[in-house]
Amino acid sequence: MNKFKRIILIMGTPGVGKTVVSNLLASQLNATHIDVTKLVKREKLTSGVDKARGTLIADMKKVSGRVQEIMRGCERDVIIDGHYAVDVLPVEEIHLVFVLRRDPEELKQAMENSGFRERKLWENLAAEILDVCLWDAVRACGSEKLCEIDVSGKGIEEVVKEIVSVLEGKRKRSLGIVDWLGKLEREGRLQDFLKDF
Ligand SMILES: Nc1ncnc2c1ncn2[C@@H]1O[C@H](COP(=O)(O)OP(=O)(O)OP(=O)(O)O)[C@@H](O)[C@H]1O
Ligand SMILES: [Mg+2]
Repeated sequence: MNKFKRIILIMGTPGVGKTVVSNLLASQLNATHIDVTKLVKREKLTSGVDKARGTLIADMKKVSGRVQEIMRGCERDVIIDGHYAVDVLPVEEIHLVFVLRRDPEELKQAMENSGFRERKLWENLAAEILDVCLWDAVRACGSEKLCEIDVSGKGIEEVVKEIVSVLEGKRKRSLGIVDWLGKLEREGRLQDFLKDF
């Protein structure tokens, strides 16, 4: 049995498609998929409630401990899916980090369909427009292991195919491929998206 284990991170703003992509990728690579968002909720790995946002605050120490515990018994590739996935384990252990990017228009639709409203919706959209998740990843692990994937207008299979090509070394890692801020500004719609800021 191949005991070689790669740790692959799938990051991105909520609603960008991390979980659907990670599910398909895990089945193609025969990998273990850890959905950090679900794990935090299921095992209550929280330190309190963010009252202003009506959300739970993840306890990163507990999350990190639990993720590493799950990985320890695992002999396959591991896919860690979560918008703060990069904070759950030491950088040296990470093989590659994929940051999924989605056009704010599409993302807004997806988030509304998932029940995001008001403050949470606009905060997440602003985070995507301002590259917050990308910068979090850069800050945590530098740019060497990073790859952005623009998922806008693509099906899940197509996104997974791109990720697999990068993992197999058939496609170059890409960075700085989207500019939502510039795009919205050119279209005169920036104010509509950043209206609360
Ligand atoms: N490429 C895609 N094509 C069509 N629908 C998609 C695509 N990616 C995601 N979706 C849909 O968008 C919604 C959000 O996807 P998903 O739950 O995977 O996001 P997420 O990044 O895991 O969000 P969260 O951070 O909240 O866990 C789902 O309804 C999913 O089916
Ligand atoms: Mg998810």
